[in-house]
Amino acid sequence: MNILDKLKAGIATETVEDTYQVARDLAATLPEEAILTLEGDLGAGKTTFVKGLAQAWDIQEAVTSPTFNIYNIYQGTRQLAHMDAYRLEESPEIWDELMLEELIFPPFCLAIEWPSKLPFIPWPVTHRLQLTAQGEARHISLK
Ligand SMILES: Nc1ncnc2c1ncn2[C@@H]1O[C@H](COP(=O)(O)OP(=O)(O)OP(=O)(O)O)[C@@H](O)[C@H]1O
Ligand SMILES: [Mg+2]
Repeated sequence: MNILDKLKAGIATETVEDTYQVARDLAATLPEEAILTLEGDLGAGKTTFVKGLAQAWDIQEAVTSPTFNIYNIYQGTRQLAHMDAYRLEESPEIWDELMLEELIFPPFCLAIEWPSKLPFIPWPVTHRLQLTAQGEARHISLK
C-alpha cells in the first residue's frame, strides 16, 4: 500500500522515529504547492511530524515550535513554512500581516498546526492530517 492509502486507513506510530518516517514518506509524494493542516491535541505529535518533513528536504536548521512567532520558514530542497495558529486571534487580517504569499515559492510546503484557530485559509488545503495520542498510543490519519 502506498503512503496515502496507509494514511487514509490510519497509521499507529509507536516512537518519534515512526512519526518522522511517516512524514518523510508523505513528503516524497507532495505536490509543489502543498498545504497541510495538522489537527490534534497538545502533544499529539504535530511538531514532531513537521520535523520529519524537514528531514525529507534536507533542512539543517532545527525545527522548533513557532507558537510565539506564528510561523518559521526553512529552506532545504523545498521551502517549509511551519505555522502554529494556536495563539492567533480569529481575525481575517492575520493573513495580510503574515504576507506568506510573498515569502514562499514553489516547491513549498505550508504545514499548519491548529488550523481550527484560523477564520479561513486562503489557499486550497491539499492534505488534512489528524494526529491523536491516547496514553502511549499514537495515531496519524489523512481525512
Ligand atoms: N509516536 C510518537 N510520535 C510523536 N511524538 C511522540 C511519539 N511518542 C512520544 N512522542 C512525544 O510526544 C511529544 C509530541 O510533541 P509535539 O510537540 O510534536 O506535539 P504537538 O502536537 O506539536 O503539540 P502542540 O499542540 O503543543 O504544539 C514529544 O515530546 C514526543 O517526544
Ligand atoms: Mg506543536
